[in-house]
Parts: sequence; C-alpha cells; structure tokens
Amino acid sequence: MTEMRDDDDRRTRRVLWSLPTGLYIVGGGDVRVTPSSANLMTVNLVMQVATAPRVIAVSFEVASRTLQAVREFHQLSLSVLHRSDRAVVRRFVKPVLDGLVEGSSGPEMAGEPVIVGSTGLPRLSGAAAWLEGNVVGETSFESHVVVFAEISASGESEEPYEVLRMEDTRMNYGG
Ligand SMILES: Cc1cc2nc3c(=O)[nH]c(=O)nc-3n(C[C@H](O)[C@H](O)[C@H](O)COP(=O)(O)O)c2cc1C
Repeated sequence: MTEMRDDDDRRTRRVLWSLPTGLYIVGGGDVRVTPSSANLMTVNLVMQVATAPRVIAVSFEVASRTLQAVREFHQLSLSVLHRSDRAVVRRFVKPVLDGLVEGSSGPEMAGEPVIVGSTGLPRLSGAAAWLEGNVVGETSFESHVVVFAEISASGESEEPYEVLRMEDTRMNYGG
C-alpha cells in the first residue's frame, strides 16, 4: 500500500515536471527607497493569467526574500533569459545578500550587471526581454505564495532571440 502511494507520488511529480516552463529571474524591491531591498531570484513558476488587464502570476516560496521585497514595494520585474544563459540561473538560487553593489562598469547583483528601471526595480542587463508589473493580488498556499502582477512596462533585445526553458537544463523544480 505504501509502495503504491510512493509510485503515485513519483508519477505525479514526473508529470508535473513535464509541464513546459521557462526559466526567468524575478526581481523585487525599490532601490530608490531602500538600496538593500533589491533582490533577484530564479523562477520557473510563471505564466500570463489574464489579457485585460495583462496579468502574470509568479509563485514564490513562502520564505523567499524576494517575496518579502515584492510584498513591501508592490512591484516586480521579470528578466527573460537568452537560451545560452544557463549559468545565470545558478547565480540567483540563493538570496543576494549584499543587494545591489556598484561594480567597475555599473550596478551589479551577485556579479551580474543589472539595470535599475525608473520604478527602482532591478533587472538583468543581459536579459533577452523584460517585464515590470504592479502587484494586484496574491493567493497563499502552504509552500508558495502566488503573486499577481499587472504589466506596466516591457522591453526586448533589438536582435532576434530565443529564450531559456527548463528543458534546456538538467534542473527540475516543483513536482
Ligand atoms: C530551476 C529552478 C527553478 C526555481 N523556480 C522557483 C520558483 O518558481 N519559485 C520559487 O519561489 N523558487 C524557485 N526556485 C528556488 C529559488 O530560486 C531559491 O529558493 C532562491 O534562493 C530564493 O531566493 P531569495 O530567498 O533570495 O528570494 C527555483 C530554483 C531553481 C534551481
């Protein structure tokens, strides 16, 4: 009986892992108000959930520092990565303890060049594309908080680009 339950559990996890997702870097904080509030983290649980208004949902682990920053300043950024940027994902799976620092050629977080938008939100300079949004709601579960953000700004690289997806890596998350 226990074995059956284990099999069911493993299958459910495999099927959940098989749902295609992208890999992104979500940002929170407002460096205009509190420079140390800025945080960036790797996420894949992201999707558009409405067209009018345009809303995305991002699911945050309850204990994540980025969630704290998103809740405090009611805004988030989403950096869409180039398909070749797998290494960046690993840089943002731990909290960025020193927040935003001034590097030799501009602001950086975890050694990656960042741009600070007019909103005070950090995003990756090397992103293929990006979105910014204002928080319009959230739903809490035991493990995660799903934050809904209405899109307020966007940008993309002038060159054609392909975006990074979970299947381009050996990583899984969720399940
Ligand atoms: C491939 C991958 C995907 C991830 N997706 C998410 C996600 O969708 N939501 C989430 O809360 N954490 C996700 N994580 C974990 C966070 O990146 C990690 O917990 C991070 O340290 C949280 O940072 P923070 O505490 O600075 O906010 C993912 C990690 C990896 C390796």
